[in-house]
Amino acid sequence: MCSTTASVIIDLSKAANALRNGQLVAFPTETVYGLGADATSSAAVARIFEAKQRPSFDPLIVHIASQQQLPQVVQIFPDVARRLADHFWPGPLTMVLPRSASIPDLVTSGLPGVGVRIPAHPIARKLLELTDRPIAAPSANPFGRISPTTTAHVLQGLGDRIDFVVEGGPCGVGLESTVISLMQEQPLLLRHGGIPLESIEQIVGTIAVAVPNSSADDAAQPAPGMLSRHYAPRKPLILLPHEARAIPVSGQKCGLLTESTRTWDDGFSQILLLHSDTNPDIGVRLQTCAANFFAMMRALDSADLDVIIAHEFPEVGLGRALNDRLRRAAAGSRHAS
Ligand code: TXA
Ligand code: MG
Repeated sequence: MCSTTASVIIDLSKAANALRNGQLVAFPTETVYGLGADATSSAAVARIFEAKQRPSFDPLIVHIASQQQLPQVVQIFPDVARRLADHFWPGPLTMVLPRSASIPDLVTSGLPGVGVRIPAHPIARKLLELTDRPIAAPSANPFGRISPTTTAHVLQGLGDRIDFVVEGGPCGVGLESTVISLMQEQPLLLRHGGIPLESIEQIVGTIAVAVPNSSADDAAQPAPGMLSRHYAPRKPLILLPHEARAIPVSGQKCGLLTESTRTWDDGFSQILLLHSDTNPDIGVRLQTCAANFFAMMRALDSADLDVIIAHEFPEVGLGRALNDRLRRAAAGSRHAS
C-alpha cells in the first residue's frame, strides 16, 4: 500500500516512466479505467493483485499500442483473429490467444492463453506507445466491486494503493471489453462487453457463448472470471424484467435504475434514468445506457437509500452485457429475488 493518495496527472511521459519502473498507474480506456502495470514484470503485476485484492486464479488482460507489438505477447495470430482485429481494433475486444514466453505466469494465472487488446482511447494509446511495453490492466476497482468510469471512482476505490491516475474524463463506452477465446478451433465468447455479440457474428459467423456453472465455486468455472457475484454495489439490489412495473418496497427507501420511461409507481426516493434519449434506434439508446450504467449504479449505492431496484435490459446488442453486469451485481444480494 502507498502511504499517500495517488496523484492525478496528465503528463503521459511521467506515467510511462512510472510504468517502466514497476509502478501502478491507472489510466482511461474507452471502456473503463484500467489499473496498469508492466506486463513483462512479475513484481509489477503482483502489485496489481495486491492492490485490487484479486484472487490469483483470475488472469489479466494485456494492452498493446499496435499490432506490431503482438509478437511480444502471443505466439500465433490466426486468420480469425486477424479478421476480428481488422474490424474491432483499436476497440473494446479482447482476444485470448496462445501466450508468448515473455508473459509471466502471474498474468495468465498459469493458463496457456493470454487476453490481449488494443484500446481505442487516445490517452491509453499514447501511454502505451510511450511506455513501449505490453501493459497488464484489469479494471481499476477493488475486486468484485463496481468498475470505474472516472478518475474520482478510481480514487474512491484504490486511491491509497496505487501511484498515479491519468486524467481522461468519463469513459465513452462505459462497459468492459468483450472477451473471446481463440484457444480452440471454434471461437468462444467468455464475456459480453462493448462489442455486441451480433457484430462479432457478422464477421466470424455464429459463435458459442460460455455459460457459467452456478453450482461451481468461483475457481472452478469453465473460464476464469465467470464469478457469480461481481460488479457489486454494497446495497441490496432487486432486478425486474424489462418493462415490468416497478413498485417500491414498503417501509424502505428505494432507488430505481431504469431505461424505461414509464413503468413505475410513486414512492421511489430517487429515480435515475439511464437515458433521456428519444432516438428510436435501440442500439443508440443502449449505448447511452452503457455509458451511464456504472456511474449511476455508484450514485445510487452512495445515496441515502435502503435498496436499489433495477430494470433488466432487452437481451439484444449491448443489452446482453448490461444484463450480465446487472445479474452478477445482484447475485448474493440479500434481496435478490
Ligand atoms: O475493457 C476491459 O477489458 C478493461 C480495460 C481496462 O481494458 N479491463 C478489464 O479487465 O475489464 P478485468 O481484469 O476487470 O476483466 C478481464 C476479464 C476477466 O473476466 C478475466 O478472467 C478475463 O478477462 N481474462 C483475462 N485473461 C484471460 C485469459 N487468459 N483466459 C481467459 N479469460 C481471461
Ligand atoms: Mg473487472
